[in-house]
Amino acid sequence: MSTNSFPQGFLWGAATSAQQIEGGRNAGSRGDSVWDWYATQEGAIEDGSNPFTACDHYTRWREDIELMSWLGVKAYRFSTSWSRIMPGGRGASNSEGLDFYETFVDALLAAGIVPFITLNHWDMPYALLGDGGWASRDTVAAFVEYAAATTERLGDRVRHWATHNEPWCISTLGYEEGHHAPGHTSPAEALPAAHHLLLSHGLAVDVIRRNVRDAEAGIVLNLSPAWPHSDTDEDREAARRFDGLFNRWFLDPLFRGEYPADAVEDRTRRGHLEENSMPFVREGDMAAISVPIDYLGANYYSRTAVKAGPGGDPVGAPLVPKEELTEMGWEVFPDGLTDMLVRVTKDYGPRSIYVTENGIALPDEADGSGRVSDPRRISFLRDHLLAAHRAIEAGVPLKGYFHWSLMDNFEWGHGYTKMFGLFRVDFNTCERTPKESAYWYRDAIAANAVEDAD
Ligand code: FCB
Repeated sequence: MSTNSFPQGFLWGAATSAQQIEGGRNAGSRGDSVWDWYATQEGAIEDGSNPFTACDHYTRWREDIELMSWLGVKAYRFSTSWSRIMPGGRGASNSEGLDFYETFVDALLAAGIVPFITLNHWDMPYALLGDGGWASRDTVAAFVEYAAATTERLGDRVRHWATHNEPWCISTLGYEEGHHAPGHTSPAEALPAAHHLLLSHGLAVDVIRRNVRDAEAGIVLNLSPAWPHSDTDEDREAARRFDGLFNRWFLDPLFRGEYPADAVEDRTRRGHLEENSMPFVREGDMAAISVPIDYLGANYYSRTAVKAGPGGDPVGAPLVPKEELTEMGWEVFPDGLTDMLVRVTKDYGPRSIYVTENGIALPDEADGSGRVSDPRRISFLRDHLLAAHRAIEAGVPLKGYFHWSLMDNFEWGHGYTKMFGLFRVDFNTCERTPKESAYWYRDAIAANAVEDAD
């Protein structure tokens, strides 16, 4: 058995997001978000639940910092709730919302934990939906106002900022496939939405640099290496298409200042663009989007094995038997993490990278004594940390790892049916209990190292 030590100063962390844990829907003059509204729509959430109370972190945050201290994490990734800070979408910010985060950040810092704030983890103020949400270019200015208000208040104490979490999910799941808020099913809205997200990222990075001392500004993408399902030309071509629409559609504008030409053609072929033309892209936008960033946040859950569907369009189809998939229906594939990190480093050369999310949903249950045994999460964690370690050895500038999630929470359209936490949350009492994986992670953090599997 050998010990794999991580570099000195490697940031071991855990992640959450405001909408998934806070609750406190109307507390402190918060306004409704698109998700508060979406959850009330018939059939939108699998278990008919809503995020109105969630983990009640809004009142239990002190206890949550104690959990983090017990775990020994060096950093905590969380998001500020856009709807708490700008309840009406535009105009005045809400000082009660900003006070909440200021107090919270001060307590984190006092505990020696580095805060990583994501500004938009999907909870746009509901008020902005009237203008079309992300499909409207006006939302760009609204986001920049929110970024300004938040960084003006917290920029003297928080260095690490991310603009958006997973713009692919917002634009594709929210505006094209209708699985996420606002539940639209219009490809004609999805591409402008993605563009407006990217543009507002670039403009917000400028604001972050202005307001934050020694800023580390970045964005968080969900990246999934595309694997041809079989060694046929059709499946290889489908994998290329998937990669273009999922990974490169965001990486290329951010790091190269252009959309990937092959993916633009694919969109035209599917009838989502007219003759490769993108009228929503205006003069100067691409330069603004490709403003240099200090780090790329990469969320990794699985590879995507891709088959050619009708018309050659990419269709995801796992390569392993159903019984091996996680509760989300995702394949466990640690090598994909190394692969993704090495590829991004080679093709785009980010200054640094953090794994900003990685985790597994399992049917965790407490036994009679309250113990939660989750051996599959322990092997998932170990194997992905070893994969991250291999990436570092291959020259990837990986500076930290945030496990998703610190605690069980509201998993969007799945409600409270998918449990990702290191801590179990009893959603009747909101009591938190460390799972066995939390003890395992705590030991790895203390050792700054991970042992090979036996
Ligand atoms: C990611 C989201 C995060 C969580 C995990 C499971 O796509 O960023 O909020 O839902 O998936």
